[in-house]
Amino acid sequence: MIVAIDGPAGAGKSTISRMVAGRLGWTYLDTGAIYRTVTLLALEQGIGPADGEELGRLARHLEIGFKPGPGGSPRVFAGCREVTEEIRRQEVTANVSEVSAHREVREALLDKQRACTDVGNVIIDGRDIGTVVCPRAEVKIFLTASVPERGRRRRLELEEKGTLVTQERMEAEIAARDAYDSGREVAPLKQAEDAVLVDTTEMSIEEVVDRVAQIIEKKLVP
Ligand code: DC
Repeated sequence: MIVAIDGPAGAGKSTISRMVAGRLGWTYLDTGAIYRTVTLLALEQGIGPADGEELGRLARHLEIGFKPGPGGSPRVFAGCREVTEEIRRQEVTANVSEVSAHREVREALLDKQRACTDVGNVIIDGRDIGTVVCPRAEVKIFLTASVPERGRRRRLELEEKGTLVTQERMEAEIAARDAYDSGREVAPLKQAEDAVLVDTTEMSIEEVVDRVAQIIEKKLVP
């Protein structure tokens, strides 16, 4: 079974997907990590975020790999090089929306993402999974939360890693990524017609995990 979880930045998709996959014993695929890996390599190779053609070439040649990591967090590989930590760098986050908006990049990564779903039961998160990558997913969930709440979560996440940022700056970054991800021409972020909307603004992580697991279990045992 394929479970597609889409939604804006900071909605908690990866945390929730990882925890639900852990509870069910399923595979978790983080498609944002693939776009982040392309962005990291582009920065290292001096390819600008506006250069769709070169970025597309890079994406076509990318050999992305995932291995189970501690606590269910997948370890991410570009060829045999591990990039799990580096793809979370602020510089990558600041450029990934622009990189992922190019048609050349999205087309190059489509089959790679679909190939990763050939592993039995899988929870796959991103922006266009229910609409473009896996339109036939048996379960589709659109996870969201208000901008202030998503900003607050991202700020706390960074603080835990020792980086202090203001709430204002986090909200502005979140709003900018929303605009980019939803406003792009190719595969924009939007809720699939048959997706269940889960607004997590006032929910704890445990409540969201329970709700998502419940939606999946209902499909497994109707
Ligand atoms: O989920 P994330 O923050 O790691 O995703 C990073 C970026 O990648 C996000 O700003 C938009 C892009 N992305 C995308 O366009 N399509 C996906 N399926 C997943 C991520």
